[in-house]
Amino acid sequence: MTERLLENQVAWVTGAGRGFGAGIARGLAQAGARVCISDIETAELAATAAELRSDGGQALVQLTDVTDAEAMRATADAIVAAWGRLDVIVNNAAIMPLVPFAAHTPDFWRKMIDVNLTGVYHGVWAAWPHMVRQGGGHCIAIASGASGRGFVDEVAYCTAKHGIEGFTKALALEAEPHNIAINTMGPGKLIKPTSITRADEAKLSDADRSRWIDPLSLAPAFVWLAAQPPSRFTGLRFDAGPLADTIATEGYAFEFAPEKTTIYVEDMKERMARRKQSAANG
Ligand SMILES: NC(=O)c1ccc[n+]([C@@H]2O[C@H](COP(=O)([O-])OP(=O)(O)OC[C@H]3O[C@@H](n4cnc5c(N)ncnc54)[C@H](O)[C@@H]3O)[C@@H](O)[C@H]2O)c1
Repeated sequence: MTERLLENQVAWVTGAGRGFGAGIARGLAQAGARVCISDIETAELAATAAELRSDGGQALVQLTDVTDAEAMRATADAIVAAWGRLDVIVNNAAIMPLVPFAAHTPDFWRKMIDVNLTGVYHGVWAAWPHMVRQGGGHCIAIASGASGRGFVDEVAYCTAKHGIEGFTKALALEAEPHNIAINTMGPGKLIKPTSITRADEAKLSDADRSRWIDPLSLAPAFVWLAAQPPSRFTGLRFDAGPLADTIATEGYAFEFAPEKTTIYVEDMKERMARRKQSAANG
């Protein structure tokens, strides 16, 4: 039985048509949140909406491209018009075509940065005035191995994911006075590769699918973070795999330790120490 920790909360998950975003959205709804799901793929979105509603959850479905700033702001406004608030945004939408640098064009580069990095900025920019007005909120972007390491054929993707970490560290400082937490969360376990659609996945053998875990099993990590007071953790990078394992063994009220919540323990300790130091320096 899912604990309904987010009973009065409103969440928005971008790129929620399938994959990680669909699992996160469903898990947040199972925890009691009213959830806006947005994507650019109508059929994928409809499938996620059906999943949420079959669990008895509420879903607001929005066809919104994360590269379109005004559409993102209109979506945030529609959420607040429907439900009165916006507590959590999960900036999940991304694309990850594997392209060697020699085959890059400026248009390809711009598209990758627009979707994968500027899309995150647009989500926070759209949610920000509502969160400031209501006195707080959580902005969670999706991290990856590519957030801290380089990979062949992923130059633009790695650049965008590294950029999200810089955005997170810097914005956390400005968001703190508004009680807005800015964090990232990686899957931390093997999930279906990006860009495989629901239809593609259905055609695969059970053996193929069994290599990936169901992203819904990682959703408790997002429920836990969204249920924290925003002032408790900010500017950090979490990983859903270890966090969901911790919650499964110790429950949602587990005693915090970095190694229970991230693969990148030293990085988290360093970020926490910096925050403490800057608070001490005023
Ligand atoms: N799959 C992995 O192994 C993996 C590993 C680490 C991190 N991630 C991250 O997880 C997140 C989700 O990826 P996924 O693997 O579930 O991918 P996915 O391709 O299954 O899902 C991404 C969704 O984003 C949507 N999308 C794409 N461009 C969009 C746009 N411009 N506006 C709105 N929606 C858009 C797609 O239609 C799709 O529904 C991404 O941030 C990705 O970088 C994935």
